[in-house]
Amino acid sequence: MAKNSVAIVEMGLRDGLQNEKVVLDADTRVEFARRLIEAGTKRVEIGAFVSPQWVPQMAGTKEVVSKAFGLQKSGQIPKKTEFSVLVPNERGMQDAIASGVKEIAIFAACSESFSQKNINCSIDESFKRFEPVMALAKKHKIKVRGYLSTCFGCPFEGKVPEARVVKLAQRMHKLGVYELSVGDTIGVANVGQVHSLFKKIKKVVPVKKLAGHFHDTRGQALANILAAYEEGVRVFDTSLGGLGGCPYAPGATGNVATEDVVYMFHGMGIKTGLNLDKLIAIDPWMSEKIQHALPWKVGKVGPLKPLGKVAVSK
Ligand code: HMG
Ligand code: MG
Repeated sequence: MAKNSVAIVEMGLRDGLQNEKVVLDADTRVEFARRLIEAGTKRVEIGAFVSPQWVPQMAGTKEVVSKAFGLQKSGQIPKKTEFSVLVPNERGMQDAIASGVKEIAIFAACSESFSQKNINCSIDESFKRFEPVMALAKKHKIKVRGYLSTCFGCPFEGKVPEARVVKLAQRMHKLGVYELSVGDTIGVANVGQVHSLFKKIKKVVPVKKLAGHFHDTRGQALANILAAYEEGVRVFDTSLGGLGGCPYAPGATGNVATEDVVYMFHGMGIKTGLNLDKLIAIDPWMSEKIQHALPWKVGKVGPLKPLGKVAVSK
């Protein structure tokens, strides 16, 4: 990654749409991806091979991937765009292999209650499920990203001990993930906690392998991202317009809005590779598709556009 820049991983198609009442068809989801990529997005989590009984919004991911690859083949999407899909178990991994994706993401929780609610098994069981997934990834040369959820708090258990999160970060790292995204699933983290936890995780996982995944439930996500940036983190997960949340995390709203993060970093002279105006132009289209306004901030008003000097009467 170039100096003075950060990488943005767009979550809108997965973490975003997985929590929407309106289920979007494959063509609309691919058009969403195309618009994001047109705005400069280079990494897109495009869907999830999870159970459609559990998350109906992600059904059709196979078709979405296939159509996106079609656009890539015909040159409408740059070849270098990286697509990833979320995979919970071996069954999902088989679907991922069949779809031809070159990157997947596995996910585990830092609290037992959330693990049970989200994937119907204990934390230990989830790591056992990753073993065949990692073996298949190696065999098929598929990159694996890892998520840890509820790192800063659990909707069922409340506080999550830092030591447990650090241990699980180390365990996920040892599995062989190329990047570990540290998740504030319910948007409960604060700046002090972010500094403290990342300082500890950095001791067991190289900071260049870490990413920050902040939901914006309490309006703390930008501050938390800045704190993670100060700790050396350079990869952040964001969702256009702040779309979404997790259906199994009661009370959680969407990821931090991509536009808000881009606005902040560009203001600091840090490159994201994204075009803010083009991102904002996607918002009304997406709002219409999901049939409600996005929880946007920068996306709603845009960057400063002076109305023109007011004549001063002498
Ligand atoms: P289960 O019901 O315990 O699964 O669900 P099972 O192994 O008992 O199998 C039951 C049936 O599901 C079987 O079918 C399986 O074949 C099928 P049947 O024999 O009855 O016809 N099945 C599957 N079908 C499709 N895809 C699969 C799959 N696996 C089994 N992969 C399971 C366990 C993990 C599948 C389920 O709990 C699940 O899909 N959970 C996913 C929940 C989810 O997607 N949550 C949101 C994403 S995580 C998140 O948002 C957090 C994150 O953003 C980070 C953060 O914010 O912290 C990443
Ligand atoms: Mg999330």
